Amino acid sequence: MARLLKRYSDGERMNHWFIVLMFVLAAVSGLAFFHPSLFFLSNLMGGGPWSRILHPFMGLLMVLGFLVMFLRLWRQNLMTAADKEWAKHAGEMLRGDKSRMPPAGKYNAGQKRVFWLMAFSLLVLVVTGFLFWHPWFTGYFPIVVQRAAVLLHSIAALVLVLTVIVHIYAAIWVKGTMRAMTRGTVTEGWAKANHELWYREVTRGR
Ligand code: HEM
Repeated sequence: MARLLKRYSDGERMNHWFIVLMFVLAAVSGLAFFHPSLFFLSNLMGGGPWSRILHPFMGLLMVLGFLVMFLRLWRQNLMTAADKEWAKHAGEMLRGDKSRMPPAGKYNAGQKRVFWLMAFSLLVLVVTGFLFWHPWFTGYFPIVVQRAAVLLHSIAALVLVLTVIVHIYAAIWVKGTMRAMTRGTVTEGWAKANHELWYREVTRGR
């Protein structure tokens, strides 16, 4: 049987799946407002008025959940010189040749970029969201600021959705990754093949 290494605690996993749930609800209700052809999605939240009421709270809960994850993980997601080298060869890896990939730490350069794109887009979403949250906060900001906020909010939402699609694709594409977030463990083989520096770190002294 393959030996297993701990990658995430129960709390970290619950937090991650809470963020996912809030992301789906905020994205579905947000898309309903984005274009009339997508308005039918509001039915999933109980209709237009409920979508409008709940959307900002779902977004806020997602950001708060992400903040917990951010505070735990930001140091491990800082770019290093080795990551630049990894990123340089990422194209070859995508074409199926992993022979020149330098060893990665707990997260590789691709994951780190995804992490910072998520953090940045969520920051823009929450700041701009407050600027046009009717009727509570809009009185404080001129209409031109609110209009700019709506535009930036939509752009940041698009960036976040595309980033999450890449994130899910990578989690499925790299076999054995999903169990890190479903069971909290990964096989030693997975760790050695994909995150060798992390593997050496956690198996040191064995
Ligand atoms: C159905 C959707 C999703 C799936 C299947 C999924 C899957 C995963 C998996 C398997 C990992 C572990 C990767 C590893 O340790 O190497 C992970 C990590 C992570 N996920 Fe997700 N995820 C989803 C949605 C999201 C969303 C919506 C967010 C935030 C907006 C998010 C944020 C993160 C973060 C920050 C990490 C830690 C990785 C890092 O810090 O670079 N995930 N996810």
